[in-house]
Amino acid sequence: MIKTAQLDVTKIEPRLKHPTIFEHFDALVQGEEFEILNDHDPKPLYYQLLGERGNIFTWEYLENGPQCWRVRIAKPADENAETVGSIAAKDIRKAEVFKKLGIDFCCGGKKSLKQAAESVGISEVELKNHLSQAENIQSNAAHDFDSWDLGFLADYIYNVHHKYVREQGPIIEQLADKVAMRHGSEHHELFHLAEGMHAFMADLYAHLKTEEERLFPIVKKLASGEKADTPEVKSTISAMEEEHESAGEELRQFRILTQDYKLPPNACNSYTYLFEKIKEFENDLFQHIHLENNVLFPKAIALHQN
Ligand SMILES: [Fe+2]
Ligand SMILES: [Fe+2]
Repeated sequence: MIKTAQLDVTKIEPRLKHPTIFEHFDALVQGEEFEILNDHDPKPLYYQLLGERGNIFTWEYLENGPQCWRVRIAKPADENAETVGSIAAKDIRKAEVFKKLGIDFCCGGKKSLKQAAESVGISEVELKNHLSQAENIQSNAAHDFDSWDLGFLADYIYNVHHKYVREQGPIIEQLADKVAMRHGSEHHELFHLAEGMHAFMADLYAHLKTEEERLFPIVKKLASGEKADTPEVKSTISAMEEEHESAGEELRQFRILTQDYKLPPNACNSYTYLFEKIKEFENDLFQHIHLENNVLFPKAIALHQN
């Protein structure tokens, strides 16, 4: 087997450059790699390899000019099977799929999809179907909320955002505890984060309850054209807006605590997943609060005053 740690292409006679590189590439077995060093971007070689050998290698620039180009070319250990951990780390939607199926992708995530599927008693094809379905989940950014009927908007907020908080909140709380237990001795802020997260979520769950029990029914009544004899609409809305502000402030404090969710270099998958989940939660809450503060509440007040 020919395996060269680094092949200096500048020292090879021009007509022999590509054949020599191919010779080295063909000699690699799965899991092996070599580097090429060149004085110009070897991109044409990439296309030539792809065309003549197919998509069986990885191509990684270690240095990208202007004087020197170094590329690592490798044949992955198993080109058909990424590990569960690497898939989860790249796409949070797929991490969700693993979580729902009970597949451990955290500290024991070095399993192939086949092994992971077997561990929960389904076929690899089924697991791949679940994962490709997750790729179709898109954001709702395109909706024109401002034109919606107010009762429908209240239902939407309940069904999309309130349910999301109730589903994801406990997962984040549990994960924050787990990560603090595992990594808190090295990263003390994780204990504060977990503690703060429990208090934050408790307030938020109570907030949702107030909206659902005291506010949304009135909003829906007003939206259907009924007169609502409810002098407390404005004060309830003011109280909700104040709680939104507090929630925003708490999220800001979490960001300060974690330096904007900066991960240490050796962060495990659970650590990474926790921070991704919180950022996703924060995005959802901002959209949720935006719909209430900027669309639902002002329109409800306007209807109430008519
Ligand atoms: Fe809400
Ligand atoms: Fe709210």
